[in-house]
Amino acid sequence: MTGIDHREISEQAVPPVRDWATDWDHHDPRWTNDPFPIWEEMRSGCPVAHTDRYNEGVWLPTTYEDVTTVAQNPQVFSSAHNGVAAGGSVERGKFAPIHLDPPDHAPVRRSMLPFFSPKRVESWRPHMQELCDHLIDGFAERAEAGGTVDASADYAAHIPAGTIAAILGLPTDDGHEFRRWIHGLELGDNDPDLRIRVVQEMGEYFGAKIDERRAEPGDDLITELIHLEIEGERLDDDELRRILTLQLVAGIDTTWGVLGASIWHLATHPEDLAALVSGEADLQTAIEEFLRSYASVSLWRTVTENAVIGDTSVSAGDTVMMAFPAACRDPKVFDNANEVDIRRARNRHVAFGSGIHRCLGSNLARLELFVGLDTWLRRFPEFTLAPGADVTWAAGAIRGPRQIPVIVGGSG
Ligand code: HEM
Repeated sequence: MTGIDHREISEQAVPPVRDWATDWDHHDPRWTNDPFPIWEEMRSGCPVAHTDRYNEGVWLPTTYEDVTTVAQNPQVFSSAHNGVAAGGSVERGKFAPIHLDPPDHAPVRRSMLPFFSPKRVESWRPHMQELCDHLIDGFAERAEAGGTVDASADYAAHIPAGTIAAILGLPTDDGHEFRRWIHGLELGDNDPDLRIRVVQEMGEYFGAKIDERRAEPGDDLITELIHLEIEGERLDDDELRRILTLQLVAGIDTTWGVLGASIWHLATHPEDLAALVSGEADLQTAIEEFLRSYASVSLWRTVTENAVIGDTSVSAGDTVMMAFPAACRDPKVFDNANEVDIRRARNRHVAFGSGIHRCLGSNLARLELFVGLDTWLRRFPEFTLAPGADVTWAAGAIRGPRQIPVIVGGSG
């Protein structure tokens, strides 16, 4: 292990944005805390914004049409990249299947689909339920005595980390390490060395686990991946380490973000909370609206040939940020797009992406959201933000609250 010190992963300050159309920054605190007016301004003004702060410049389409057109055109907008870095791009390794283009992408994705089928995902429900009950048991007494509980750090953060740990056959306690790595990756856009060291540490961790499973196979996804054949060939250790690293990275802060934002929404919208608790509104429908309204994931593409996005010309080698959360708030597609309507019937959101890379873990994420919210609402039918609560949000491409101090029962 390279042993990254927790203290190294501290918060960063970026120079304030001067003009969102030409100098945007997804690490500016105004974006982090409330990106919706910024995207609205961009959508009606540019609507493809640009910044010189990362790589050799990054484009940002903000309409549903532009984002989905890019996502559905992998020949021109390649996934074979690995994010952005302040002051120039950094060459890094690829993580299958998310960084593969056709024709390499399909065989890997196809071979992984059975792991995330609805039936397979359903088999993990009892574990998720046990995990959620256990988490709440850990702080229920404090909460019921009027103490503050952090719905993000004490609850939402642990559900995806504990679930993926169980699926991979890893100790639940390692969830703490996973979240530390995720935080390091979040800051990696402005600290490429930190990101490289985090990826290295994750690779070493998984290397050791692969060796353990080769010696003693288990009933888990690592063992299954060791025996997986893609077009007649097994994965080598490096490929295995990368696939496992992606599973961890793709599944944790993404789901944590939407789950945390949903609880934050309910803490601040008592009428929606009451409608869900009484059963007057349907939780499944509300979850789709939380996915749309608080979509957590933006990703990157590299332009392979000179092209246009809407009316904007882009050049081979340019980077594009795929702001799926901005597309999910486009008023051309969603009535009252900035209104969170937990009864929204027509909801063709793209929180899980669009095209060949559409989220492989969407069934898993939806079940985690359901069990996580259903359990919280049954145990705490009334809760609000704690007085003077400081709600903080993750910076960067994966959005979600990191701190949601709440008190349970009554109006506080
Ligand atoms: C609410 C939670 C989640 C959201 C919002 C989300 C969102 C996304 C998005 C937008 C993409 C498309 C990436 C692109 O176009 O480049 C994606 C891909 C992916 N997601 Fe998720 N995700 C979530 C949870 C999960 C979970 C729980 C897992 C698995 C443990 C997972 C695994 C993946 C994988 C493997 C891909 C790559 C698929 C491919 O390249 O074919 N995700 N996700």
